[in-house]
Amino acid sequence: MKQLKRWALLGLLLAAALGAQARTLEEVKKDGKINIATEGQFAPFNYFQGAKLSGFEVELAELVAKKMGVTIEWKALGFDALLTGLRQDRWDLVIASHGITEERAKAVTFADPHYCSGGAIVSLDPAIRKAADLNGKTVSVQTGTTYLDNVKKLTGVKEVRNFPQDTDARGALLTKRVDAWVTDKFVAVGAIASNPGAGMKLGDFVFIERIAAAVAKGNHSLVQGWNKALAEVMADGSYAALSKKYFNEDVRCH
Ligand code: ARG
Repeated sequence: MKQLKRWALLGLLLAAALGAQARTLEEVKKDGKINIATEGQFAPFNYFQGAKLSGFEVELAELVAKKMGVTIEWKALGFDALLTGLRQDRWDLVIASHGITEERAKAVTFADPHYCSGGAIVSLDPAIRKAADLNGKTVSVQTGTTYLDNVKKLTGVKEVRNFPQDTDARGALLTKRVDAWVTDKFVAVGAIASNPGAGMKLGDFVFIERIAAAVAKGNHSLVQGWNKALAEVMADGSYAALSKKYFNEDVRCH
């Protein structure tokens, strides 16, 4: 018995060391299901409506998967776990508003962008609107994001405070623990609209970025399958309708 357990353990360790292989497009299609991970705390892109995952990216992924001929098995996890899980083959694809960066592209393969946006300044103080106004100020951002990287690059910012969730970075602004919050422009617009009495004001972009889904590094067949289906959704009017529903404008990259 003891011996058997030892072998089982060894087998598990071996499997972990070798790493499971990322599933190809063919394998995903054969299974009929694609495992997609997102965060679920980044409205209006990915969030929970009660117990149900929803949002622009969730609905967009549903449209894309339908074109690919598969259904989605959703997983919701902390933002930090998402790209790492691709490398461990815990899921096939991630869609969670990741900006395409050189650093991330070393570890994962990005799909074609599904929207363009950027990190914008939100403050309760109307005098804080542009990057230069952050001089000597404290700024909140979500951990592991491009907002953190880009605010850190600004000279003169007094302190950058990071939070595991973007909603907590927003909370820090609302409770006046920071002078400004940097987040996605459309997240900011949504937060301001749903908290009209809070006094949050949208300032300028700190930087702009192209947002894309990602697959395990080198999983070319899957990313090509996704890109082809995404292009179809962008061409047949369904992307435009979805974008209009969430943002009242077309957020695709031009
Ligand atoms: N666009 C930013 C980035 O690329 C933030 C993404 C945050 N996404 C989320 N689901 N909280 O890092």
